[in-house]
Amino acid sequence: MAKRRAAAPPIHPTTPDAWAAEALRDPLALLNDHAHLEKKAATNALELLHRWPDPSPPENWVLMMTAIARDEVEHLAVVTRCIARRGGTLTRGHRNPYANALHALVRRGGADDTMDRLMVCALIEARSCERFEILSRHCPDEELARLYDDLWASEHGHYRVFLNLATEVRPKPIVDRRWREMLDAEAEIIRTQRPGCRIHSWPA
Ligand SMILES: [Fe+2]
Ligand SMILES: [Fe+2]
Repeated sequence: MAKRRAAAPPIHPTTPDAWAAEALRDPLALLNDHAHLEKKAATNALELLHRWPDPSPPENWVLMMTAIARDEVEHLAVVTRCIARRGGTLTRGHRNPYANALHALVRRGGADDTMDRLMVCALIEARSCERFEILSRHCPDEELARLYDDLWASEHGHYRVFLNLATEVRPKPIVDRRWREMLDAEAEIIRTQRPGCRIHSWPA
């Protein structure tokens, strides 16, 4: 029986299924990229932990950030186990021009700084979530297909949390307007990524 899913994140353009064949050409390279993304996601959640709006953290802020960081560390552990079981090793270095371009959208130092950071996290979660759904349908390795399917739900939950927390730091109309801008900006950024065995690549 097909799993019931929450509504897919409102990102655009949606990724063509052809992306999966390309990304899965070297499953170990894809897993390595993925592991680094999980590590960065954990770091980002901890970095956001103390960025609560003054004067003190709203209810759930610290709880949510620590829960996300814990999830991401767990994902990192699972993915690195998958790498090791398939004879691979985690690389030390990693580049993610997609995330770098998104972080460049943050209006640093002003009233919108934290809202923008939360939205960057929400966008990365939302796009990853979309990619995991595609991988879960196309990955011939059953264990990995199950992993991608499980991660869909977790990253979907994170995307919702980050977006909801944005309304704790700025009024809802401002959040809604900025979210629409950020969705459009993300669409441009993802479309210009190089093809390859990465979660945030774009097909040739
Ligand atoms: Fe994750
Ligand atoms: Fe996540």
